[in-house]
Amino acid sequence: MQLKTAAKMIADVSSVAVLTGAGVSTASGIPDFRSTTGLWTADEAREYYISNYYFHKDPVDFWGKYKDIFRVKLLKDYGPNHVHRYLKDLEMHGKQITVITQNVDGLHTLAGSEHVIEYHGTLNSATCPNCGRSFDLPYLLETETPICEKCGHVLKPDVVLFGDPITEHDSAEKAIQQSELVLVLGTSLLVSPFNILPEYANSLGKPSILINREPTVMDELFDVVIHDDLSKVVQQLQK
Ligand code: APR
Ligand code: ZN
Repeated sequence: MQLKTAAKMIADVSSVAVLTGAGVSTASGIPDFRSTTGLWTADEAREYYISNYYFHKDPVDFWGKYKDIFRVKLLKDYGPNHVHRYLKDLEMHGKQITVITQNVDGLHTLAGSEHVIEYHGTLNSATCPNCGRSFDLPYLLETETPICEKCGHVLKPDVVLFGDPITEHDSAEKAIQQSELVLVLGTSLLVSPFNILPEYANSLGKPSILINREPTVMDELFDVVIHDDLSKVVQQLQK
C-alpha cells in the first residue's frame, strides 16, 4: 500500500527535493557508514581522523588516514546505479529534481542529474587553505601528502570534515521551499545539520516520503515510510 501511495505522490508533482545518503551508493559497491559493514562501524576512531581538528593537528597523518578510509571511493572503481539513474529518469520525464546529497562520491552528477547540491562536499578535488588554488583528484593521488604547487601548503580535501562549516545549508532549504514533495533515500538521518532538513520540510507542510532499509530516528516525520532495499523499491516505482 505504501508503495502505491509513494508512486502516486511522485507522479502527481512536477518538482521534488531528493535528500540522499550513503544507502543510495551501496548498490555501486561503496560501503555506507553506519550499517554493519559501514565505514564508521569498522572503526569508530575514523570520525576523529576525518575532522577539521585532526587536519590542522597532523596534516600529513590526516592524508594517510583519509586515503586509507576513502580508498574505495578515491580509486573510482564504481559508477552510478539504478537509484541514481531513476532520479535522472524523473528529470528526463519533465520533473524538476533537486538532489541534496550527503554523498561525496559524485555519482548523482555522473548519472546526469542537473541540479545536485553536494551538502558534504566532494572527494573529487582539494583546495589550498593558504592561496585558494584548486586541484583535481588525479593530482591528489600522485603523492602521499598533496602539496600546493603554487605556495607549498598542504592541501585540504573538498569533503566537509567533521567540525567544518556547512556552506550549502541555505541552498538546500531554498530547494525544499521551491519543491512540492520531499523524497529521502538511503540515510540514517543521524548527522546534523543535514537531519534538520526533513524537519524544515515538515514545518513548511511539504508532503514527504522516506525509503530506507532500516528504521531511522525520524520515521514519524514522514507521510510515507518504506523500509526496504532501494534498488528493489525503485524498480517497483518504475513499473
Ligand atoms: N537500500 C536501502 N537503504 C540502504 C541501502 C539500500 N541498498 N544500503 C544502505 N541503506 C541504509 C542503511 O540502512 C542506513 O540506514 O542507508 C543508511 C545509511 O546511513 P549511514 O551509513 O549513516 O549514511 P548517511 O546517513 O549517508 O551518513 C551521513 O555521516 O559520517 C557522515 O559524512 C558522512 O555523509 C555521511 C553522513
Ligand atoms: Zn597554495
